[in-house]
Amino acid sequence: MLREWEFMQKTVRPAGRLTGAITLPGDKSISHRYAMIASLAEGKSVIHNYSTGADCHSTLGCVQALGIPFEEEGTTVTVHGKGLNGWSAPSGPLDAGNSGSTIRMIAGLLAGQPFSTTVFGDESLSRRPMARIMKPLTEMGARLEARDGQFPPLTIHGGPLKPIDYTLPVASAQVKTAVLFGGLFADGQTIVREPIASRDHTELALREFGAELKVSQKVITLQGRPTLTGREVMVPSDLSSAAFFLVAGLLVPGSHLVIRNVGLNPTRSALLDFLLGAGAPIKVLWIESTNGEMIGDIEVKHAPIKGGVIEGALAAGLIDEIPVLAVMGAASEEGLIVRDASELRIKETDRIATVADNFARMGIQIEVTPDGMRIPGKQKFKAAAFDSFGDHRIAMAFAVAALRGDGESTIDNADAASVSFPEFWNILDQTASA
Ligand code: S3P
Repeated sequence: MLREWEFMQKTVRPAGRLTGAITLPGDKSISHRYAMIASLAEGKSVIHNYSTGADCHSTLGCVQALGIPFEEEGTTVTVHGKGLNGWSAPSGPLDAGNSGSTIRMIAGLLAGQPFSTTVFGDESLSRRPMARIMKPLTEMGARLEARDGQFPPLTIHGGPLKPIDYTLPVASAQVKTAVLFGGLFADGQTIVREPIASRDHTELALREFGAELKVSQKVITLQGRPTLTGREVMVPSDLSSAAFFLVAGLLVPGSHLVIRNVGLNPTRSALLDFLLGAGAPIKVLWIESTNGEMIGDIEVKHAPIKGGVIEGALAAGLIDEIPVLAVMGAASEEGLIVRDASELRIKETDRIATVADNFARMGIQIEVTPDGMRIPGKQKFKAAAFDSFGDHRIAMAFAVAALRGDGESTIDNADAASVSFPEFWNILDQTASA
C-alpha cells in the first residue's frame, strides 16, 4: 500500500541555534491505552491531548469498527464506552496501519471476545513478529493464526479466557499489556512477571479506570472482570518525541529550548538520566502527577556531551530513543556504544541497519553488531540525502543530524514522522534559526 509519506522530501539546513518554548503532541503509548480502555469502560470518557499521530488514529479506527463511537474535537477525544462486554463483531478486518502497539495490545482484548477478528497493517507492520503475544494469549485459551505462524495479518478467535501466570521472555510493554488486557476477561488473577521493568502506562491507566491491580518487584497481579468506569483524563506530551528536540538542543550551539507538559513517568525517563549522565544541562522546571502519570516542563541548552554506553536494562528503557542518541553519539566527545538492543532489528525498520545506512550517507563511521552499534565520537557531519525508509523515528533522527550538516540535507519519505509526530517539521521550522 502506498502512503503519502513515501513521496515527501524535506530539506533541512544547518541551524545556527534552536530556541523557544514548545508543546508537543500527546504521548503515543498512553493515548493508545486510554482509547482502548475507555472503549471498555462504562459511559463517556474524555481524553485530552490525545496523540495527533497516525498510529493512535489507527487505534481509534479499530475501536470504532468494534462498535464504540467516538468524537474528536482538536486533540480531545470523547469515547462512548459500553462496558467490558460492549464490543461487537466488526464487519471486516481491522487496519492497524503502521502500529505495532495497536495490533499487539488490541489482540489481548480481542482474545476475550465471543467472535473472531483479523487485524492487518502496512508493509512494515506485516514484517513484525506476533509470536510473542500469540503464545500467552493461546495459553489463556484464545486461538490465534498468523501468516507463517507469526506475521500479520493476525486472526484472533476469541473466547472464554483463563488467567495465567506469565513470565515475559522479552522486556516488552506491548506483550505485558496484551496479557493484562486478556486478563480483564478472565475470572481470577492474571500475573505477569517482568525480567526488566518496562513502561507501566497500562498498569496506571487500568487503575485510573477502576481495575484492581497490584505491582510489587516487577510482578503485576490483575483481578479479572473489573468494572471499568468512564473518566476524564489528560495525556502528557510524548517524551520520545521530545527526545528529538532535546538532542537537537544539545547539539546545536546557542540553543535554549523549553519543552512543556512532557510525560516524565519514571519507566520512560531513562532518557533524561542518560543525558544528564552524559553531561547534558537539562533541568526539570516543575513536575506533578496527573491521572497517575508524572508531567512537567524541561529545559535544555547546548553543551558538549561526553557520550556513553547503553546496555542491559538501559537498552530496553531507551529503545525508541536509540536512533537519535546514535546521532548524538557521533557528535559526542567519547562516542556511543549500544549493546543488548537486538529489539531494534524488529521495530518499524531494522533500526541498526537504517541508522548505519544514513550514517554512511553523511560520512559517519559506525560499527554494526548483531545487537547494537559502536559509534566513535567527535565526527564531522556532512550534508547528505537521507532516507527515512518509512520509519518515523529515522526521519526525525536524521533531521536532527542535518541541523549539524555542512550544507543543505534532504530527507526522503519525510512524512513518516506523522506516525507519531505530525507537527515535527513545523516545530523544527519555528525553533531553528540560521
Ligand atoms: C511501546 C512499547 C515499546 C516501544 C513502542 C511502544 C508501548 O515496544 O518500542 O514504541 O506503547 O508499549 P515493546 O513493548 O515491543 O518493547
